[in-house]
Amino acid sequence: MKRVTLEDIYVHPIVQKYVRRSGMAHAISVAHKAYELATKYNVNPELAVKAGFLHDIGHYTWYNKGEWDYEQYKACDIHPIKGAERAHKLLVRLGEDKQAAKEIAHAILFHTESALPSGDFNRSPLQEVVHLADELDKQPNDAHHYEQINHQEELKQIRQLDDQLSHTNVLTGS
Ligand SMILES: [Fe+2]
Ligand SMILES: [Fe+2]
Repeated sequence: MKRVTLEDIYVHPIVQKYVRRSGMAHAISVAHKAYELATKYNVNPELAVKAGFLHDIGHYTWYNKGEWDYEQYKACDIHPIKGAERAHKLLVRLGEDKQAAKEIAHAILFHTESALPSGDFNRSPLQEVVHLADELDKQPNDAHHYEQINHQEELKQIRQLDDQLSHTNVLTGS
């Protein structure tokens, strides 16, 4: 099976629409951080990078009479649930290994508690890496969602991650 690269994912129109909505620079930065953490904590870096890159693909907009309604957004947010499903569908369509697609979807689902029932739960090492990578990239007032880098720089960093992954030789664990 041909490996689905990060660039295959990046260029897809669904990713351009939804990942760009929540911040392409944030997504790429979290993917880089997930790679570093995965190497440190002995987690499959390919799953960590893909989940890190796609973790906020479930974001959507809450407008009330043309105004951004942050209170409604906070109260009704299900972006990890929506993101897990959206990323899973996309990855399977691109030809991703189905077990890998499931693990990535789970890591997206658990990247934040915002849509989960309250109470304790234990994240797997992969889920923890993606959660930590996102936390490390957060800025006050949600500024991380508005960071911008130009398209050339985006592609350069995506290719750099693909290059790093191709050298780690850990694909889907199979
Ligand atoms: Fe998020
Ligand atoms: Fe995020």
